Amino acid sequence: MLVAEKQELSLPLTPFRDDSPLDLSLENVREVFPITRSRAYLNNASIAPASTLVMSAMDHFMSDVRDNGRNRYPLWCDYAETAIKGRVGAMIGAKASEIAFVKNTTEGLVTVANGLDWRKGDNVLLPDIEYPSNVYCWMKLAKLGVEIRWIKARNGRIELDDIAALMDSRTRLLSLSAVQFSNGFKQDLAAVSELCSKKKVLLNLDAIQWVGNQALNLAEIHVDFLSFGGHKWFLAPIGTGIFYCNEKSIDLLDPPSVGYHTVDRGEAHMDYILDYRPGAARFEEALVNFPGIWGLDAAVRMHLAVTPIAAQEKIASVVSYAAERLQSRGWRIISPRSHPGETSGLLSFTKESLDVEKVAKSMNSAGVDLAVRAGALRISPSFYNDESDIDRMMAALESC
Ligand SMILES: Cc1ncc(COP(=O)(O)O)c(C=O)c1O
Repeated sequence: MLVAEKQELSLPLTPFRDDSPLDLSLENVREVFPITRSRAYLNNASIAPASTLVMSAMDHFMSDVRDNGRNRYPLWCDYAETAIKGRVGAMIGAKASEIAFVKNTTEGLVTVANGLDWRKGDNVLLPDIEYPSNVYCWMKLAKLGVEIRWIKARNGRIELDDIAALMDSRTRLLSLSAVQFSNGFKQDLAAVSELCSKKKVLLNLDAIQWVGNQALNLAEIHVDFLSFGGHKWFLAPIGTGIFYCNEKSIDLLDPPSVGYHTVDRGEAHMDYILDYRPGAARFEEALVNFPGIWGLDAAVRMHLAVTPIAAQEKIASVVSYAAERLQSRGWRIISPRSHPGETSGLLSFTKESLDVEKVAKSMNSAGVDLAVRAGALRISPSFYNDESDIDRMMAALESC
């Protein structure tokens, strides 16, 4: 993104920026999600509902465009590059310069797949239960002679020993979901990162089911690349996302799509010199989704106000409550839950010979939203949900 050519502006003062901390906590956050008044929305691992904060931040930005057109463009760029990326970085333990705005998780994964310098005979390790975003971009490398080695899940888990056993001197990269979409299995990121560093294998994470659900501190765990869309646990608008590129790994990636924002030449459009700007902003080839990014910023400010650790704990307690109530009514929990380190905000469950699609449909009619994944029902409460949503779900399940 273009970093500001600073301007003196005498324009109507539509405020386009808002840096004030939000007066929000776990006690009052439910109020900014109007959906909670009508539905028990337990499908945040799919698409989260919009909060009033996100909506007004987007409106804020668009009001500036309405009143001032392009006039504050340099200021928007500067604000997004410094303040907004700074807040995203504060949430995940990254530097602002390690963050690029993308439109979804898939775009970040594709940037890695198409940006690395592959050699015939290289191999990539992938769990065999990944969401397809983290599969197709690697399959496409077959024509360059890159092999996929599948890590077979055991009872829904991806075991460290199985990953290690597949690594050899031609293993370039391990790409995996930090939390699995189908059953909520949470990977031990510190252990995976340590293994990759020891074996000199790059680590690429699909973190869309992690960020906003589980706290993350990339300052403590070495990850080379990480991507997540904003529209699930992050509670940001559809069409927004973050690609994190560790500053130590940035030169390993040749940006697969280049444009006028890949370079750092301000308004000097006609120089035609393709030298990449420093930092991950080089992966934003052109104008980014500012209205969505303003909404994403409101979501980040919400996470920072509530705090990611408190959010994670609240989610864990609602999920445990749900697991207990379900088990007491004869439901079988599919999600790995033998030890605390492997649980997340996603919970999958079923019963023998159940028509899960039919159940999900009638739950939806009863105002309870959940998903069907891998033949089971899946709930994904965020920190704005509470036990009353689970009580409503249980009541609806009883009458299915
Ligand atoms: C683990 C995982 N990765 C990727 C995606 C797709 O995300 P996006 O639309 O942001 O590319 C999903 C969506 O369900 C997912 O669960």
